[in-house]
Amino acid sequence: MSEKYPVDPAFAEKARIRKDDYERLYTESVRDPEGFWKRMSERLDWIVPPTRIKDVSFDPANLHIRWYEDGQLNVAANCLDRHLDTRGDKTAIIFEGDDPGETRRITYRELHAEVCRFANTLKNLGITKGDRVAIYLPMIPEAAVAMLACARIGAIHSVVFGGFSPESLASRIADSKAKLVITADEGTRGGKKIPLKANVDESLTKPNTNSVETVIVVRRTGGAIHMQSPRDRWYHTVMEGQSAHCPAEPMNAEDPLFTLYTSGSTGQPKGVLHTSGGYLVYTSLTHELAFDLREDDVYWCTADVGWITGHSYVVYGPLANGATVVMFDGVPHYPDYSRFWQVVDKHQVTLFYTAPTAIRALMREGDGPVKATSRKSLRVLGTVGEPINPEAWKWYHEVVGDSRVPIVDTWWQTETGGFMITPLPGAVDLKPGSATLPFFGVVPAVVDADGKPLEGEASGNLVITDSWPGQMRTVYGDHQRFIDTYFKTYPGNYFTGDGVRRDADGYYWITGRVDDVINVSGHRIGTAEVESALVAHPKVAEAAVVGCPHEIKGQGIYAFVTLNAGESGSDELRKELIASVRKDIGALAAPDHLQWAPGLPKTRSGKIMRRILRKIAENQPDQLGDISTLADPGVVKSLVEERLVKA
Ligand code: WTA
Repeated sequence: MSEKYPVDPAFAEKARIRKDDYERLYTESVRDPEGFWKRMSERLDWIVPPTRIKDVSFDPANLHIRWYEDGQLNVAANCLDRHLDTRGDKTAIIFEGDDPGETRRITYRELHAEVCRFANTLKNLGITKGDRVAIYLPMIPEAAVAMLACARIGAIHSVVFGGFSPESLASRIADSKAKLVITADEGTRGGKKIPLKANVDESLTKPNTNSVETVIVVRRTGGAIHMQSPRDRWYHTVMEGQSAHCPAEPMNAEDPLFTLYTSGSTGQPKGVLHTSGGYLVYTSLTHELAFDLREDDVYWCTADVGWITGHSYVVYGPLANGATVVMFDGVPHYPDYSRFWQVVDKHQVTLFYTAPTAIRALMREGDGPVKATSRKSLRVLGTVGEPINPEAWKWYHEVVGDSRVPIVDTWWQTETGGFMITPLPGAVDLKPGSATLPFFGVVPAVVDADGKPLEGEASGNLVITDSWPGQMRTVYGDHQRFIDTYFKTYPGNYFTGDGVRRDADGYYWITGRVDDVINVSGHRIGTAEVESALVAHPKVAEAAVVGCPHEIKGQGIYAFVTLNAGESGSDELRKELIASVRKDIGALAAPDHLQWAPGLPKTRSGKIMRRILRKIAENQPDQLGDISTLADPGVVKSLVEERLVKA
């Protein structure tokens, strides 16, 4: 039996949701989803309130997912305008720069004005409802302004993480046919400069990017950049003289809000498309309940806006709730390893949300940098992105939270829009390493390889049997891929791509991806993408990439590379190949290990046996399983010997 950390009665007493509330509301939410989600929709301001709540079929032959389909609203108006009367002077964003000397506070009134001015700017530049806008910015308030301005006029934003290469940015621009790109001269991270504008310039020389008519540049560092006239315009110049009044475009609940590209097991990253009404109901509700949000909370999520966590839980959920949000443009170790906790003290952060990889990296530095700070303001701690090992969970709880603060381990995905399995801190007893129980309206199931549902205590693949309002609606421009990826493996269910164990108490323990996706520091990397970057090198014949355990990142990237006949593997070539992946995709995809492979284990029909490569990378050669079906079992022996030499 794993340890249990019961809900603190003092916390429960004041909590929004207690144990009996959770049980009652959960039962209601799955018995009568229409009634439940109709009531929950009332938390938003609708231009036309919805009467048709849910229209869903998970049948691959007739797949459709529609929530609140006759309702009309505007997402930006819900995040801004409706707070003006009651919260106009409340701080919406506390900006904390990479440099600890840089802080800015923006009220809801100020944010509303800035968003309206930028929305008018976009309109003047010819952006209209349905147009796509790419955002390639650091974690600065202008990123939130840009997203909300798009939402205000009905443009579909596509945020690209600033760590992605010009190549990756170009392929996202090409896929979405963006008309406009918003970037900054440079970003700063841990005192280093990131050449964002130069990356945009390079990306726009790549094929299929000539949909871009305008590039708007925020002056962040003042570093030297090239401005190409008339394409490139400074943010501060185009904003001059714009009116702070801009009517919010009435949007149908099912109109797209944004696309966000994420890696899958095959091919190019796909544009996950989220719509307006259901997404905002779901993100705001989950944010309020999982963090037990109160009016005077100061909430800080360390995720970058380039990821779904930054969309749902830096911008949309919290701002829809009228919360005060910290936006941090730095890293946990700069200027020193106390930085997170210094910022917590400085802004009296009450709700803090980060990733296991950051917790592990800080844990390695010992308790000193944490104990040097007070952290008394903290009330709830959260984690997301990958399974958290119990050791890191306990350190987070005992050292960061002084054994006093509950931890919400939130399992969800880019595709799910918001939290799916998570404790509600006043209602659910915690177990270190378990995301615990499903959120309202979420019905998980554990299935075996054939799709047979497993009851009670069980291990298998995690599926969700019915829709929830925050679910993605399609893959941008490729609806068939949406159906094939998520609804064909276990017909009638949404397949998450994750493995799971359910214990005797009904608690869920995510075990990690079961497809060819590697979770590196909480970021999804498709093995196919890394492989195609490797084989693009003229000396490489073939490559196979798998995940391997990594102390800080959770998973590392392990590449097996076969060179062309006549080539030989040198340290220099190894470095060159790793650098080329970095250049092609971004630093986050650079392999941690690269092993030369004279051959790769294949079936007689030529399929690479990744299961075997995974075991070799994990250094578990005794668990290779049956290798008799391989075309050449000898290949495995030599790979294992090579690996063992290195270990
Ligand atoms: C993993 C991030 C265990 C999981 C919000 C999922 C987690 C993938 C957790 C989605 C968690 C996320 N416990 N695993 N609390 N949260 N994951 O799309 O494998 O970037 O499928 O969304 O991260 O990653 P994504």
